Amino acid sequence: MAPHLFLPLLLLSLFVLASASPSAPPDEGAYIGVNIGTDLSDMPHPTQVVALLKAQQIRHIRLYDADPGMLIALANSGIKVIITIPNDQLLGIGQSNSTAANWVKRNVIAHYPATTITAISVGSEVLTSLSNAAPVLVSAIKNVHSALLSANLERLIKVSTPLSTSLILDPFPPSQAFFNRSLNPVIVPLLSFLQSTNSYLMINVYPYYDYMQSNGVIPLDYALFKPIPPNKEAVDANTLVHYSNAFDAMVDATYFAMAFLNFTNIPVLVTESGWPSKGETNEPDATLDNANTYNSNLIRHVLNKTGTPKRPGIAVSTYIYELYNEDTKAGSLSEKSWGLFNANGDPVYILRLTNSGSILANDTTNQTYCTAREGADPKMLQAALDWACGPGKIDCSPIKQGEACYEPDNVIAHANYAFDTYYHQTGNNPEACNFNGVASVTTTDPSHGLCVFAGSRGSGKNGTSVNITAPSANSTSSGVGSDLYYSRGMWSILTVILNVVAFL
Ligand SMILES: *[C@@H]1O[C@H](CO)[C@@H](O)[C@H](O)[C@H]1NC(C)=O
Ligand SMILES: *[C@@H]1O[C@H](CO)[C@@H](O)[C@H](O)[C@H]1NC(C)=O
Ligand SMILES: *[C@@H]1O[C@H](CO)[C@@H](O)[C@H](O)[C@H]1NC(C)=O
Ligand SMILES: *[C@@H]1O[C@H](CO)[C@@H](O)[C@H](O)[C@H]1NC(C)=O
Ligand SMILES: *[C@@H]1O[C@H](CO)[C@@H](O)[C@H](O)[C@H]1NC(C)=O
Ligand SMILES: *[C@@H]1O[C@H](CO)[C@@H](O)[C@H](O)[C@H]1NC(C)=O
Ligand SMILES: *[C@@H]1O[C@H](CO)[C@@H](O)[C@H](O)[C@H]1NC(C)=O
Ligand SMILES: *[C@@H]1O[C@H](CO)[C@@H](O)[C@H](O)[C@H]1NC(C)=O
Ligand SMILES: *[C@@H]1O[C@H](CO)[C@@H](O)[C@H](O)[C@H]1NC(C)=O
Repeated sequence: MAPHLFLPLLLLSLFVLASASPSAPPDEGAYIGVNIGTDLSDMPHPTQVVALLKAQQIRHIRLYDADPGMLIALANSGIKVIITIPNDQLLGIGQSNSTAANWVKRNVIAHYPATTITAISVGSEVLTSLSNAAPVLVSAIKNVHSALLSANLERLIKVSTPLSTSLILDPFPPSQAFFNRSLNPVIVPLLSFLQSTNSYLMINVYPYYDYMQSNGVIPLDYALFKPIPPNKEAVDANTLVHYSNAFDAMVDATYFAMAFLNFTNIPVLVTESGWPSKGETNEPDATLDNANTYNSNLIRHVLNKTGTPKRPGIAVSTYIYELYNEDTKAGSLSEKSWGLFNANGDPVYILRLTNSGSILANDTTNQTYCTAREGADPKMLQAALDWACGPGKIDCSPIKQGEACYEPDNVIAHANYAFDTYYHQTGNNPEACNFNGVASVTTTDPSHGLCVFAGSRGSGKNGTSVNITAPSANSTSSGVGSDLYYSRGMWSILTVILNVVAFL
């Protein structure tokens, strides 16, 4: 049987009324920032943190508090910082102007302007994590703003509060998105405040969780900003806009949810986004490679200033979650593994940022390989292997008995060799590394012993060894086909048309 080399054509159409895009505010320039959580058993000293930020050319950060040590270490660094009023201080600040004024005096005025505080985040995901503080959220924001006003700093320092995107109901199609109506008594005055003070709406955007909770409805490549064929993009039938990644769809859903309440010119600042590099066995997509792919693509996407389909060219500056892995953070392994760096300042992975500006760890590897996806169906692997060695016209002699890449003699190892050879033969075209969904690009060199893979730095030498015996060949998860992409799940209330055209 010849394997299907091209993915089925999937067209998702959604019906509703058309609605026009509001006018866009001027481009303010996009930047990437980084969040700094501190739940580490060996949290580096603030001067070490600032040294890392400087070495990595990170110029925008967000803190989860207003730690004086950090604010002093940041002085005269030019690094722009968002400080946070912790949720447990909201009640006091919301109930009293003078408590708010004292907070601003101690944490802002004492450090400004030596430390470039650009915004105050009043709480963090208050409406979802501390709903009893909801009634005071807007008054806390206003009290802080009025304290800044008395200090003549209100134009230099913005006030806002990060929201979880889980407040946005029906986020796909974006044109139908709206804020949970029962929170309108808070959201509407919040948006009025943001509009009248030229502030921004802060949102935390996590395609990782959307993907994990979607039970296969959201394709991994769509969550990871990987190139997907136009016919697999998600289409918003109201606007006929095509979405090629989950991040843009969520930011647009936020614009639409605001527009639904008649607020059309409040910019969005993404205060958190990222991908974990490690997880428990039930979190199989929390991998180094996926974390690297997500964050590398996110950075390129933001800095490229493409904006979103609804607001093309409008910057959506984004803070990556997060600087360090947080080993003492509560929760599963993935919760502790969102960091770009270990506590000693070593990168957890080297971001793939060639030609995208000088931010974060240098791309020193630049090497990619195409290998079998973990957990891929062995039958599909065999079919793809047969195709690559047959119609795909690659030289499969190294995987023949007695040759360098014969051992280990299993379908995964042989498919790895064939996929990688085919991928490099096409000049590392990511679309060539698909094989009906059973292959994916990785930065780990699969060469072993005398078996040297195409693209390996070790070409002609021993090669860097990895343990290729690991994955079991009888796994049955993650088949390909339409059901992987769009099953009835979170999008089930939508009218969905699937046109499936298999090419071979
Ligand atoms: C990247 O590498 C270049 C040359 O090796 C070096 O000058 C630069 O400082 C590095 N940038 C970062 C952010 O590490
Ligand atoms: C107290 O804060 C409110 C905004 O929440 C402001 O309108 C008012 O002027 C403030 N009063 C004083 C005395 O600062
Ligand atoms: C909307 O918000 C209310 C109040 O926080 C909450 O009880 C309810 O579950 C939310 N609805 C949805 C669909 O999330
Ligand atoms: C938005 O504006 C329209 C037209 O002015 C009005 O009919 C509608 O009630 C407004 N919606 C809200 C939520 O204020
Ligand atoms: C950057 O933006 C341009 C259009 O402005 C687009 O053609 C290009 O594909 C984008 N590159 C990336 C890496 O997103
Ligand atoms: C990375 O790849 C690009 C294009 O493939 C190439 O021009 C560049 O020299 C490579 N950089 C390194 C460090 O190998
Ligand atoms: C190749 O492997 C042998 C033994 O495994 C080792 O002695 C030798 O140094 C290696 N050569 C290179 C270039 O890594
Ligand atoms: C390869 O992995 C298996 C299972 O994880 C392990 O038992 C074995 O020792 C590893 N071999 C090498 C050479 O690391
Ligand atoms: C197949 O996988 C299951 C569960 O992962 C394992 O228990 C079983 O031993 C495997 N069978 C073979 C033949 O590898």
